[in-house]
Amino acid sequence: MNFDKSKKLYEDSVNYLPGGVDSPIRAFKPYPFFVEKAKGSKLFDVDGNEFIDYCLGYGPIIFGHANETIIEESKQQLELGTAYGVPSEKEIILAKEVIKRVPCAEMVRFCNSGTEATMSAIRLARGITNKNKIIKFEGAYHGAHDAVLVKSGSGMAGKPDSPGVPEDATKNTILVPYNDEEAISKTISENKDEIACIIIEPIMGNIGCVPPRDGYLKFLREITEENNIILIFDEVITGFRLSKGGAQEHYGIVP
Ligand SMILES: Cc1ncc(COP(=O)(O)O)c(C=O)c1O
Repeated sequence: MNFDKSKKLYEDSVNYLPGGVDSPIRAFKPYPFFVEKAKGSKLFDVDGNEFIDYCLGYGPIIFGHANETIIEESKQQLELGTAYGVPSEKEIILAKEVIKRVPCAEMVRFCNSGTEATMSAIRLARGITNKNKIIKFEGAYHGAHDAVLVKSGSGMAGKPDSPGVPEDATKNTILVPYNDEEAISKTISENKDEIACIIIEPIMGNIGCVPPRDGYLKFLREITEENNIILIFDEVITGFRLSKGGAQEHYGIVP
């Protein structure tokens, strides 16, 4: 395979984009291939190489690239304008669709990213319970906001992953191992009445798509209910994919 044009673009790109890319996940050694276009399950790079795309935009392109129906509908909407800054009826139609499918959804607040969604969910949980501590699982990725950018370190308040994240921002984040009921029970009893929420990806994508042990999500549902803790499912990846209603429908557990 020839990657000459990608190499040239990369040499140009590093002068303008940190690492030559717009996200660390796109950085490959010695340089990534640069895409020219995509259709269905295929990516075509600037050197004329063809790839089967198993990533599909790392999630959102679930109908494949350049889907005809989506193109047609998008064109029609573009004619009507894009960002209005005031409400429109289509938001209600979409919210109703989400509520119809997702078991836990009573109302919907649309966000621009997974980061924004988990940040808002945690803030809401803290506000509603009037408690500050949160439990997250070792190795779990919930986006790029400070409270969840914490390395592993079982049972302790987490240390930040990155320079620029002050320890103050993560001191209320408690890390526990995934699929370990005892660790959760112990953490909750050691932090009685202080934990606002448990945030979990029902199938842990970031550590290699590890499913929950039988009964684990039910256990989390019960122990959180007993202790006035909000259970948050981060379904950025599992939502609308594992089933129409996401992991919560698949496992029959409503967060
Ligand atoms: C489970 C999970 N939560 C949250 C996020 C953050 O989403 P975004 O990159 O849209 O901020 C990701 C991104 O990969 C994710 O996989």
